[in-house]
Amino acid sequence: MTLKKVVLIGGDGIGPEVVSAAVRILENLDVSLEFTEAQMGFECSKRTGHFIPKATMEALERSDACLFGAVTTPLDQKQRSCILYLRKHFDLYANLRPVKRLHSSIGLVDLDMVIVRENTEGMYTGVEHEDSEGVTLERRVSEGASRRIVRRAVDLCKSEGRKRITCVHKANALRKSDGLFRRIFFEEVEGQGLEVKEMLVDAAAAALILKPKDFDCVVTLNLYGDIISDEAAALVGGLGFGPSGNVGDKYAIFEPSHGSAPDIAGKDIANPIATMLSSAMMLQYLGEKGQAARIERAIRLGLEREIKTMDVGGEYRTTEYTEALIKLLDEV
Ligand code: NAI
Ligand code: MG
Repeated sequence: MTLKKVVLIGGDGIGPEVVSAAVRILENLDVSLEFTEAQMGFECSKRTGHFIPKATMEALERSDACLFGAVTTPLDQKQRSCILYLRKHFDLYANLRPVKRLHSSIGLVDLDMVIVRENTEGMYTGVEHEDSEGVTLERRVSEGASRRIVRRAVDLCKSEGRKRITCVHKANALRKSDGLFRRIFFEEVEGQGLEVKEMLVDAAAAALILKPKDFDCVVTLNLYGDIISDEAAALVGGLGFGPSGNVGDKYAIFEPSHGSAPDIAGKDIANPIATMLSSAMMLQYLGEKGQAARIERAIRLGLEREIKTMDVGGEYRTTEYTEALIKLLDEV
């Protein structure tokens, strides 16, 4: 493997803890990565006056990929979430969120699915107009963004051998916007050899719990993807089990789907698995499929041996878990 440049952004709360843990694993694999640490987020804004300093943007521009923890977005400030800005800036239009139950002792239902979430528009345009009566949000659904996200989902099905693709939408209520997404979906999946389904998002939320086997690949709009991916992660063990990749045509940022968890920050009890699995997705993106697979195998082996963090009934602190996992790498 040629040397790949990776930017590490811990961010706020548990972000730095879980990114450090994932980096410890990467350092113990047979990969050649050059890490650059960069700052971003609320704590960074207090230190530097900027949520995303110029040096961070420059480091990202120069790199092959980024591993990111999470940032805190205080609700009483004007600042939009930094990660939303980066998704848009780098046109990372696909948010890939695999959800897999890694061991029967963890979680509630057997899921092995991937959520492909549109990542640049929908409810997250950030364009809100205020008048004397209230606020109007511009919720955008475009043909181009819909087409490329469905194509990405179809490609993913083919590369991962997934047979069924489900479009999750709410076109009964949002007839034009979700109607457009739905129409493009059916156009793009035609003749691709996949089993094609559609589901309204509210029904999908129930079916995830009641009929988890119905899901294989889900392609959906931004907000629905955000919500059902936390639900799905909760079903396979909690937010500590939800990795993700924000992927465009030229760049990608990998991050756990959870936030900065201020309630447990600094206590060395965060579950780093979501970030470790995100780093595995990053390795795969960088062409290191074999090494990427070792991360998941080590985590599974750990779960078999009761090596787990406290959020799932284990006894290991974040750092202890990480060191235990490094030992398991020898066996996988
Ligand atoms: P959250 O995902 O940070 O936490 C929700 C709950 O799950 C908390 O009880 C937390 O302790 C627990 N949790 C999350 N990750 C965990 C882990 N790895 N191990 C063990 N427990 C874990 O969501 P919340 O509390 O709604 O948001 C906190 C902050 O994070 C907010 O400022 C929000 O804006 C931000 N956020 C940032 C994201 C990002 O940077 N991509 C994504 C989502 C939220
Ligand atoms: Mg979310």
